[in-house]
Amino acid sequence: KVYTDYFFDEPAFNTHDGGYVPLKEPDTPQEKLKIPALLKPDKETDTDMYYTVIAQTGETQLLPGAKTKTWGYNASILGQTIVFKDGKNIHITLKNELPELTTFHWHGLNVPGPITDGGCHAPVYPGESTQINFKCNQVAATLWLHAHPCPATAQHVWKGLATTVIVQDQTESQLPFPRNYGVNDIPLVLQDRNFHENNQLDYMADYDPDGIQGPTPMINGTINPYFDVTTQRLRLRILDGANRREWRLHFSDDLKFTQIASDGGVLPEPIDFTHLMLTCAERAEIIVDFRGYKPGDEVTLYSDDVPLVRFRIHQFAKDDTTLPDHLVDIPDPDITPNTKIHQVVMAGMDEEVEINSKKFDMQRIDDKQKVGSVEYWDVSNTNDKTGGMIHPYHMHATQFRIVSRNGHEPYPNEHGLKDTVGVNPGETVRLKVWFDKLGVFMNHCHILEHEDGGMMAQFEVYDPDHPKTYKLMDMDTL
Ligand code: C2O
Ligand code: CU
Ligand code: CU
Repeated sequence: KVYTDYFFDEPAFNTHDGGYVPLKEPDTPQEKLKIPALLKPDKETDTDMYYTVIAQTGETQLLPGAKTKTWGYNASILGQTIVFKDGKNIHITLKNELPELTTFHWHGLNVPGPITDGGCHAPVYPGESTQINFKCNQVAATLWLHAHPCPATAQHVWKGLATTVIVQDQTESQLPFPRNYGVNDIPLVLQDRNFHENNQLDYMADYDPDGIQGPTPMINGTINPYFDVTTQRLRLRILDGANRREWRLHFSDDLKFTQIASDGGVLPEPIDFTHLMLTCAERAEIIVDFRGYKPGDEVTLYSDDVPLVRFRIHQFAKDDTTLPDHLVDIPDPDITPNTKIHQVVMAGMDEEVEINSKKFDMQRIDDKQKVGSVEYWDVSNTNDKTGGMIHPYHMHATQFRIVSRNGHEPYPNEHGLKDTVGVNPGETVRLKVWFDKLGVFMNHCHILEHEDGGMMAQFEVYDPDHPKTYKLMDMDTL
């Protein structure tokens, strides 16, 4: 079966409000798609990996003419791709070379909070560095690192602080997926920007409380990119790294592609599509098969009707690999008896956004769950069906399962592990959530201006036998 729809409610696409900025095809020359380098470990042993991640300022040639002032991780914009191997002890020096404080949030990574997780309670001040140490303990997945200082997450990400993180494990390494990084396995970070005088970004000028947008697609920090295809099958690790924008992806000729992984790892079974929608912070790994194309052909990836990447087909060897019908088993633990159903109600738009009728407060813990316990979280979006928005709901410290949408089956590609889910207006999505690390963590809408505007809450994962207290920052000390 090949799915041909976006599944989300069309009237709720985040294109309807007055402030929506449609994408436009850039009129600049095509540029080779930038493939971020793999971040070299400072040292790697059989058991340990050591990295230094530097948040730095820089200048990037994005458009012809003046370079754009940008921020990045070990790069002038976005960052190098960071690889963790399941089972290894990871040691990371986090260095802040920016003129202001930032944090290093490992979106989707199974680590303790609030410090290692890198949300707003873990500031690294300018000129300083800190160390985090943790054991990588999760299945292979495409995650990401982004800044998370509250309430400036949106600005930091807009300037460029976001990069791909790849977790590798034994199981995934046995599956017949392309995995030659940069050749047939590439990250694709989808963002949009607006350029002002001298090719500069101006966050304040473009600010919108429902999420900043720009008309120009920026893919891996490249404007108007092409990619040279030299293998029949290509694996794309797609991240919606935009502040607010959804991407409705499809290829020329309605070329079919196969999704093999979602946020938290490989899907139980491959899903064939011609159209795929991603909301903010969601990831999808897809395999595109270019059989039937010949050298000189071009296949274009679009969002709606705007070209994002042109795949230039070159000579490739024939590849008859087929995917098994079943890829991996997804954990599905039973709900712990006598636990409550957590409620998260996302309401409002613009400055009025809130969760459970409250705005975010760094010193308030809104909910808690015992470590190891498996509980339902019902996440609703009370926005109006016609004028509302889809809120991409994200939880730190977990990869959850989507149980249902308004009591119905989740979408066909939502049977794997997820950390972010687009919730339609008028909808309640039931999640099955469990945690195995202690700490205080955030849950929020991943439209970054909604998050900064207060559509965010905190919960504690606790162990009743070992109660802990946490030093929580407050907005003023930042
Ligand atoms: Cu991707 Cu709280 O963030
Ligand atoms: Cu996160
Ligand atoms: Cu939102």
